[in-house]
Order: sequence, then structure tokens, then C-alpha cells
Amino acid sequence: MKFFVDTAEIDQIKELNDLGMVDGVTTNPSLIAKSGRDILEVTKEICDMVSGPVSAEVVALEADDMLAEGRKLAKIADNIAVKVPLTWAGLKTCKTLSDEGTMVNVTLCFSANQALLAAKAGATFISPFIGRLDDINLDGLELIEDIRTIYDNYGFETNILAASIRSANHMSDCAKIGADVATAPPNVIKAMANHVLTDKGLAAFMADARKAGIKIV
Ligand code: E4P
Repeated sequence: MKFFVDTAEIDQIKELNDLGMVDGVTTNPSLIAKSGRDILEVTKEICDMVSGPVSAEVVALEADDMLAEGRKLAKIADNIAVKVPLTWAGLKTCKTLSDEGTMVNVTLCFSANQALLAAKAGATFISPFIGRLDDINLDGLELIEDIRTIYDNYGFETNILAASIRSANHMSDCAKIGADVATAPPNVIKAMANHVLTDKGLAAFMADARKAGIKIV
């Protein structure tokens, strides 16, 4: 499973990218607003740092306006994936941009039917938001499973990009189901390294090393 990092914070992307943990980046209008940066500038900076796909989201609601925004975003770099919402206008925009050879990430997906439409419209990525489904007591992981089944049944090449990831467990669950990509905030990717038995075992090893006076360099 590929790891995308879900942030527009340059320092945090760099830290994970230097460790080889970043296969791509996703942003959205809320993350851009939080960064306080200009969307075109910060997206360009991310594209220069990361070689994989970098999702940048349109803010228009009508198909013609979305298309104009998508074409402008696509000019930033070759690794841009234009992010469009899963609305009828978004699907139209997805089809046109995909036909033009631009990667498209269809976002705000909450049902298997929506994912089926995005694949038919030629999406490169479909982003089911699992955390936001869990927030309203629906099963986000079940949606990932359903989309995996449907795409495999018909050989759709659209990548399942599990989004709205809230915990380290979400990451391993998505990997078990067979999501192609999971996008997570930096703190969730870092939390994947944590285990209470690692901390406990390390404390015991360090105490023994101190007692025995072990020195290596
Ligand atoms: C994905 O592309 C979205 O930017 C993101 O995962 C949304 O996550 P949230 O539900 O935590 O805002």
C-alpha cells in the first residue's frame, strides 16, 4: 500500500519524505487554509519536493469553472492530481481532465455507487472518507471493502485512496483490505511506530546496558 501524507505543511512533508515514507501528498481547501499559504505557491513547493502524485483541489462548484481551475492546477507540475468533489459537475470535470491526460482524484466519496461512477468517469484515484463515516456511526472500512470488490469484479484501474484516516489501526486495516493508497496526517503515520511493548522492552534493555556498562562508541 502506498502512503500519501495528508497535509500542506512543508516541514512535515519533508521530514517524512526524507525517510522514504511519502509516495504522494493530498491537500484540500481546509488544509491549504490551515497552512496560511497561497495554494499555487505551496502546491508548487510540494511538487518540487515529492516525486509522486500531489493532489490539489478545485474550489469552484460548476463544471466549466472547475475545469478552468483544474487546468490551471495541472500546469503547476507533471505530478499534480486535480482533486474534484464527487458531484455530477465533478464527474464531468473528471472525465474531461482524464481524457486530457491529467490525473484526477475524486474526493468526498461516501458510497460504493459514487466510487463506481468515478471509475466510469476515468478517475485515477477515488477517495472514500472512512473517518467521517465512522464519525456518524457508519462503517468506513466496510466501504473500502465494497469498493475493492466492485473494482476487482470489473477490472477498474482507478486506485482506491483511503482518506480521512484517523488512527494507526485504520492504516493496517486498509492495507489488509487491499486499498491501493492510504492518505493520513503526519501524526498518524508516526503513531504507526508506537507499541507499548517496544517501549517496555527498550527500557529494560537500556537498564541492563547501563548496569553492565556496555559502551559501543
Ligand atoms: C483526503 O484527501 C482529505 O484531505 C482528508 O483525508 C480528509 O480528512 P478529514 O476527514 O480528517 O478532514
